[in-house]
Amino acid sequence: MNKITAAITAVGAYVPDFVLTNKILETMVDTNDEWIITRTGIKERRILKDDTKGTSYLAIRAAQDLIKKANIDPLDIDLILMATATADMPVASTAAYVATNIGATNAFGYDLQAACSSFLFGMSTAAAYIESGRYKKVLLIGADKMSSIVDYKDRATCIIFGDGAGAVLFEPNYEGLGLQDEYLRTDGEGRDFLKIHAGGSLYPTSIETINDNLHNIVQEGKTVFKFAVTNMADACELIMKRNNLTNQEVTWLVPHQANKRIIDATASRMNLEDSKVLMNIERYGNTTSATLPLVLSDFEHLFKKGDTIIFAAFGGGFSWGSIYLKWAYDKQ
Ligand code: UT7
Repeated sequence: MNKITAAITAVGAYVPDFVLTNKILETMVDTNDEWIITRTGIKERRILKDDTKGTSYLAIRAAQDLIKKANIDPLDIDLILMATATADMPVASTAAYVATNIGATNAFGYDLQAACSSFLFGMSTAAAYIESGRYKKVLLIGADKMSSIVDYKDRATCIIFGDGAGAVLFEPNYEGLGLQDEYLRTDGEGRDFLKIHAGGSLYPTSIETINDNLHNIVQEGKTVFKFAVTNMADACELIMKRNNLTNQEVTWLVPHQANKRIIDATASRMNLEDSKVLMNIERYGNTTSATLPLVLSDFEHLFKKGDTIIFAAFGGGFSWGSIYLKWAYDKQ
């Protein structure tokens, strides 16, 4: 029997209806449409307005979209990996709740957190389960309700983030398609540059942490930007070299959507023409764990069986990396 590789065989997505435009943000903080577009490439983002719903709602909708489109029986799903930085609640696994609510009652599931790299690292985890032969259907969901941790008085963060979810199904492939190689890294020296200060075990929630407004995401944008540009570009260059891939042989770049300038710098290092660089940042902003599957969902119609796709991400921790994957199907 041929070696088992782990291929993406279906994609689903969900974004909430409410559109938070740059114009609306102008009424909330001292910013303007032109600054946001030129510095980030973002025009609008989606926000889940319903206070009674958490990240699981977004994840369930994305998973249901995939299940419907791919016409799979949720009872056949073995494992659900929930990539998220905004779990519904601490301790109780969001993946467990999602699995039950989509009818995947034969599956087990757990959450996987590596900030904006959660989905990229989740691809590696999902692929390892498939390649081992242990499971046949692994559903990887990237979902974040970033609006639940954004301070809408902080112009350094509120202009960037949005809510959304995407899901992919990993299945065994016997033609050598799917995940080919990965280069994944972390550097804990970076943790103070992009974080939520309190609410974890180091600084548990207290009256003081609430009064001091320490429960929202904060970042030192310039520093994060600098590390993101260098590390994402380095990772992509390395994975291309290691696999003897020329810029002509790369069909698509699927990059984390944090800032258009970071994406442009990565693409430029890879020497890729613009048409190969997939972006939807202008419509969704940075949805953290959902950026990569939302790009897959938006551009799935362009992908052909055998296409060479390079994924790249950078996020808090710091965490970053690149994955080389061969697309496994033509869209019907
Ligand atoms: O997913 C991974 C997580 N995050 C990232 O990858 C984000 C990485 N960082 C970035 O994308 C960028 O650093 C930002 C978009 C956050 C900021 O862009 P920047 O070009 O690095 O701006 P800056 O922080 O250096 O600020 C430049 C100027 C400053 O004014 P002065 O000091 O030059 O007068 C800021 O006060 O722009 C000002 N500024 C703003 N102006 C209008 C900062 N934020 C805003 C704003 N609107 N929202």
